[in-house]
Amino acid sequence: MLQSRVPRRRRFLVCEPRHFAVQYAINPWMHPDVRVDVDLAQEQWRALIRAYRAHDHVVDTVPPVAGLPDMVFAANSAVVVGGRVFGSLFHAPERRPESEHYETWFKSAGFDVYRPESVCEGEGDLVFTGRYLLAGTGFRTTREAHAEVQEFFGVPLIALTLVDPYFYHLDTALFVLDDDNVVYYPEAFSPGSQEVLARLYPDAVLATREDAAAWGLNSVSDGRHVFIAPQADDLASRLAARGYVPVPVDLSEFHKAGGGIKCCTQEIRS
Ligand code: ARG
Repeated sequence: MLQSRVPRRRRFLVCEPRHFAVQYAINPWMHPDVRVDVDLAQEQWRALIRAYRAHDHVVDTVPPVAGLPDMVFAANSAVVVGGRVFGSLFHAPERRPESEHYETWFKSAGFDVYRPESVCEGEGDLVFTGRYLLAGTGFRTTREAHAEVQEFFGVPLIALTLVDPYFYHLDTALFVLDDDNVVYYPEAFSPGSQEVLARLYPDAVLATREDAAAWGLNSVSDGRHVFIAPQADDLASRLAARGYVPVPVDLSEFHKAGGGIKCCTQEIRS
């Protein structure tokens, strides 16, 4: 019998893409000569927010800042567990100024913010499973930052090495379905990290390179609904067969910057 999946209400922080653009290239998806349709991007982004609200999630917004075209990727700004905020320090100098704007928002919302000393790109590389912090490294977030994160939260941290430049953030290669399971694309990880994931999640949903290239791994799940790129329809059907409910949301304009649904979504866990 198909398992009935139970959703849990989430609180998300997002940033309107008013100043979104591809002006520099800091990952293989970005080509500054390719035009971004900002009106379409805004429409797509608003559809994501509507989808979250329609499924009973709370959405807060941080004001966008001119000159910071990647600020829409809210996931990179912090990781928040138990109301404690571990801020960001971006790898690319172009993105470094984003951290203080997010910090200002968190402070105004009543949170203290810890500023990392080493490069750390928030939920882009730090994925909280409810039990562990899965922590990506290889392209952006450093091993030194992993140590800082574990010390700050006191949550066991599992380091995972990313090896494919197209899947440069952990949240492009893996997402959490619920407290017990994840979806991931094995070849995005080093052989040792693949073994770690196989031990931790023997029942994981394994994704293909096609699923990952269609942004299917950059999804957000509330335990029942999976907000997922419509381009990843094959993965969506496999999730449906396991009792999850795919909610397709097309963020194709953002794929041009190397981002998708999860990248645009910071989860605030109280
Ligand atoms: N252009 C951005 C960068 O390269 C995209 C960030 C995507 N965010 C994410 N969580 N994967 O930094």
